[in-house]
Amino acid sequence: MQQYILALDQGTTSSRAILFDRQGQVFATAQQEYPQHFPQPGWVEHDALDIWNSQLACARQVLRDSGVASAQVAAIGIANQRETTLLWDRRSGAPVARAIVWQDRRTADTCDRLREEGRAGLIQRKTGLELDAYFSATKLQWLLEHVPGARERAARGELAFGTVDSWLAFKLCGRHLTDVSNASRTMLFNIHSMRWDDELLDVFGIPAAVLPEVVSSAEVVGHANEEWFGRSIPIAGIAGDQQAATFGQACHHKGMVKNTYGTGCFMLMHAGERPAQSHNRLLSTVGWKIDGRTDYLLEGSVFMGGATVQWLRDGLGIIKQSSDVEALATSVPDSGGVLLVPAFVGLGAPHWDPYARGTIVGMTRGTTAAHIARAAVEAIAYQSAELLDAMQKDADCPVAEVRADGGAARNDLLMQFQADLLGVPVVRPTVTETTALGAACLAGLAVGFWQSRDEIAEQWKVDRRFEPTMPRARSEELMTTWRRAVNAAKAWAS
Ligand code: G3P
Repeated sequence: MQQYILALDQGTTSSRAILFDRQGQVFATAQQEYPQHFPQPGWVEHDALDIWNSQLACARQVLRDSGVASAQVAAIGIANQRETTLLWDRRSGAPVARAIVWQDRRTADTCDRLREEGRAGLIQRKTGLELDAYFSATKLQWLLEHVPGARERAARGELAFGTVDSWLAFKLCGRHLTDVSNASRTMLFNIHSMRWDDELLDVFGIPAAVLPEVVSSAEVVGHANEEWFGRSIPIAGIAGDQQAATFGQACHHKGMVKNTYGTGCFMLMHAGERPAQSHNRLLSTVGWKIDGRTDYLLEGSVFMGGATVQWLRDGLGIIKQSSDVEALATSVPDSGGVLLVPAFVGLGAPHWDPYARGTIVGMTRGTTAAHIARAAVEAIAYQSAELLDAMQKDADCPVAEVRADGGAARNDLLMQFQADLLGVPVVRPTVTETTALGAACLAGLAVGFWQSRDEIAEQWKVDRRFEPTMPRARSEELMTTWRRAVNAAKAWAS
């Protein structure tokens, strides 16, 4: 009987479930979008039950549609949108509020205050993170302060905090846990000692009683209850989606880089077995812990990647579906001097400016929807180029190539422009579902479905390699113009 790994990829805009076969190929997929809530400007929320229900529905659907029996599923792996903060009642399992999504900026002023108090250095040293509203700590603090009775109940041990992996694991098997990679995004976890940090809990006023137990990325942590799939299945791999994608891209050695073009863009470089120290405002983060060994990554996070194309579709209405953007953008030879800085939720690395706002510059009477579409696609590449630039300054080894994945990696125009700006080849693998693949690989390693990282790396195959063709002087000129546009987006806010 053929065996498979079931990967759950719980993302910001949709839940997905993917079955992988022994060759690491996608056997079947199911996906469901779920509602986003924007109760105030800068706020982004998810209903925790929507997250769970859509994820469970996809998992059941992928089994049903493919005719794979739950007895054929060797293990479940979980990859998830990171930092998004949930709080629920331990006993009833009921959420006490909507989840605060990673994109939510409501705690930007809390971060300003902590910065004024001189806390940024301590936080960065211990967690590897920039003091920013992106991470879970200030979001959890906000929930404890604003949900009536939450602080007292949390202190009494009645409430459980978790990121999305914790929530899914809790619903699936009843345990309250998180993996090291997700823990490293909370801003409460010390990436050197690999433990929750009392001093940080104190800074943010978080009672230790709300925290989940921290587990490795590839180990059987529990079994999904029989009621979900008719049979109990081991949950054997957990990682934040970007760490999972890095693993799925087989970036197992120091200096290897991947960039995921999802809602945002997340460029991660393998940094070895010690936390990297960034001097260029990148994040030092935990990749995964397997068999007692921890691998660390250097990360640049851009908040608006593919979501910029979604905005062209839903906000501007100039395309019907996201995949139409390539045709519209290639209908003009260039952006006609238009630059779009998609700072809709502020700017992430390397700027970390929560107050910057979306800006379009360089429009003339001749500007058309096609120029705006082209500028939107190019913006994704410009932002990623800034990340690689910072990464190359931080790293003590040259970057040989960037492995690309995520929905927008199918856009050839974007991939070529990206290679041109970077001056480094961009490589797209045959399997671009690398986030789910990474979660599957972690789970598969834990249960012996695959034997080693080398076996997994051998399954990774190139679909297309985009070589840089633009003269460097031209790409540097373009980057200089881009920086001017970014300054405009920052200046608007100030
Ligand atoms: O840090 C946020 C990231 O994990 C979100 O990923 O794939 O939902 O855009 P995604």
